[in-house]
Amino acid sequence: MRLDRFLSMRGVDSRKSIKKVIRSGRVEVDGKPVFDFAMEINGNNRIVVDGQEVENDPYVTLMMNKPEGYMSSMVDERYPSVMNLVPERYRKRVRLVGRLDNDTTGLLLLTDNGVLNARLANPKHGIQKTYRVEVNHLLKPSFEEAVKSPIDIGKGEVAHVDNLKVLDDYHAEITVHEGKYHEIKRIFGKFSYDVIKLERIAFGSLTLGELERGKCRLLTKEEYVSLLESVHMKFEEQL
Ligand code: URA
Repeated sequence: MRLDRFLSMRGVDSRKSIKKVIRSGRVEVDGKPVFDFAMEINGNNRIVVDGQEVENDPYVTLMMNKPEGYMSSMVDERYPSVMNLVPERYRKRVRLVGRLDNDTTGLLLLTDNGVLNARLANPKHGIQKTYRVEVNHLLKPSFEEAVKSPIDIGKGEVAHVDNLKVLDDYHAEITVHEGKYHEIKRIFGKFSYDVIKLERIAFGSLTLGELERGKCRLLTKEEYVSLLESVHMKFEEQL
């Protein structure tokens, strides 16, 4: 990416004024002043403006443990937006990867890597998501059997359950890969169960681990690489 574009994207100044900032020698790349605003930089360069380092991760991907009562939206609407829970320095950069209902808790991803985001959302890539579910009445063996076949969830849509693990009379873990609107509630609803609690506990290879409810953290490099690979992208190509 060009240096002037990078600096204006990081909010250092507008693209026009950035050229002046660079020409006046206020910008250093890897310890040396740079005057060429068209210089190509990548995620390995250390960029400093007026003595202050500018964050230079080429992309930022965050995992959130979403609490109940927050909306998967960019701005507050009927409920506060999950963006309120994102550290301020990342808030303008990242976008949501899919959505969770207001009353659903658990693993929500946010990234500014648009290609990654689009691929993760595309059912073609079949990224599995696992949910822990609490229902309002006894989970029957007939239900366990029924979800092994495709399920007509209405509005011309058919859901496919990759795995169902019944934990006890009222709790189960269910894995799907299509990301249809209200998919889990519609699957259970089809068999007359109300979903009382819904928590996403895994997204592809990612799990919540020790992340507290309401908190956000950057993915580790290993997690990011594995997420990229799950949609046939390479870390080196993202720099
Ligand atoms: N399925 C649902 O019904 N709700 C969610 O929030 C996620 C999946």
